[in-house]
Amino acid sequence: MTAALESELLAARLGWDPDSTLSIPTQLYLGLRQLCISGRLSPGSRLPSTRALGAALGVARGGVVVAYERLAAEGFVCSKVGAGTRVLEQVSAVPGVRLEPSENPPNRRARRLQAIPSLTSMPLLRPFRLGTPALELAPMALWGRLLRAACLQAGARSLDSGDPFGDPGLRALLVERLQRTRGLRCSIDQVAIMSSAQQAFDLLARLLLEPGDVVWTEDPGYPPARATWVAVGARVVPIQVDAEGLDLLHGARQTRRPRLIYVTPSRQFPTAVKMSLRRRIDLLEFSRSHGAVVIEDDYDSEFCAPGGSIPALAGLDEAAQVVYVGSFPSTLFPALRMGYAVLPKTLTCSFRLLRQYADGFPPALIQTAARHFIGEGHFDRHLRRARTLYDERRRALFDAADIHLRGLIEFEQEQAGLSAVGWLPAGSDDRQIALAGRAEELDLTAISPLYQGRPKRHGLLLGFAPFTPAELRIAVPRLGSLLSRFLPRRPPAAPSS
Ligand SMILES: Cc1ncc(COP(=O)(O)O)c(C=O)c1O
Repeated sequence: MTAALESELLAARLGWDPDSTLSIPTQLYLGLRQLCISGRLSPGSRLPSTRALGAALGVARGGVVVAYERLAAEGFVCSKVGAGTRVLEQVSAVPGVRLEPSENPPNRRARRLQAIPSLTSMPLLRPFRLGTPALELAPMALWGRLLRAACLQAGARSLDSGDPFGDPGLRALLVERLQRTRGLRCSIDQVAIMSSAQQAFDLLARLLLEPGDVVWTEDPGYPPARATWVAVGARVVPIQVDAEGLDLLHGARQTRRPRLIYVTPSRQFPTAVKMSLRRRIDLLEFSRSHGAVVIEDDYDSEFCAPGGSIPALAGLDEAAQVVYVGSFPSTLFPALRMGYAVLPKTLTCSFRLLRQYADGFPPALIQTAARHFIGEGHFDRHLRRARTLYDERRRALFDAADIHLRGLIEFEQEQAGLSAVGWLPAGSDDRQIALAGRAEELDLTAISPLYQGRPKRHGLLLGFAPFTPAELRIAVPRLGSLLSRFLPRRPPAAPSS
């Protein structure tokens, strides 16, 4: 083979792309490296001269020289005066050199996650997306000023590594706030800033559970939390929810006792049931006598009751067995990525270690901005504005539903939350309706997949918070015509005599 022909062949095998944004030496280097790794350039084989390859590719020889030098520096090739450049013999011994990617299957626990229903929404914000607050209320100008100030005033301390539990000043404000609004009694050393409630569940699962341990969850319940128990190999036992919250009598009939109980007492997800005081006391008594830890997910609590929310379960906890988890996605904006956990004192040391090994510490500058946002009263003002707006939007939804959805879906008449819970008549298929809603640009969340056991009821969760009353008034009749296409026909009314 002539040198020119050899170079032409090599040029073709390099997959050379003249329009690439990568520099010529980088493209050459990556192409040749891949040929060596995959074995297509066999050990000992000789590369064309830099001049010949440059000519074959129509590039300057200097670029080829740079690529060859980089390959030589990394030990793929060796250049000798007079002998040219050859692929080194050892290259074939690089482990994992294959043409086919290997399978690397995930472990059994990870595979079990595939069975957990996802709460993902349609990519664009469409009525009735769940879990999104009014994004136009997000205080971006102010937030930008606070972040800028945090950057400009950052000293060595805030630019260096931080406390695994987060900014002490922010934690002190949360202690005061949680005491004032949620009835919690805790100290700064019990509060850990997290990236989300989900991160808290994940670390708590790793901290508290052994494979095979039993976790009680509400049924229906919040799938992302369930995923964290499943991911550590726990056995998740669904406990039904009645009009007072987690049904402890149903729980008591289970043969194995729980190590952990996950609840959403302020507003049960997804049924919106508020756990009664009697049930809260019974739950604390049960968990104390069985040595179980309770995780209280206090999502949405800022929007739970008109004129203020019911105190947290953790506020009644005398035996230090409740971990309280809160976060900001529904009160501010999801992209903030900030939540917190309030831990019993007995867990703080081990949780701190785990937090440190999981991801070090929370981001300092965002915490500084959040500290000023809460400390200067902006958060309270923002919440007041948001509550008024959500009351208006909820009213718009219910008023339109009264006209267009009567007899099709029955709403829980609550003055709380960022979403409405609507129950469908017996015999309906909420999954099918939610699926068909996508084609109509309606983002509906079916309730039946949120049951781990056999679904008792079918229904829909309708987020209203990010939509104006005008948008809701347009979307509700569309939902009405969708529902009337799918709901079982009711028998005609008996003629009146
Ligand atoms: C039941 C429940 N828990 C917790 C959260 C908080 O989520 P994150 O993990 O994003 O903080 C949400 C948010 O929608 C929720 O619906």
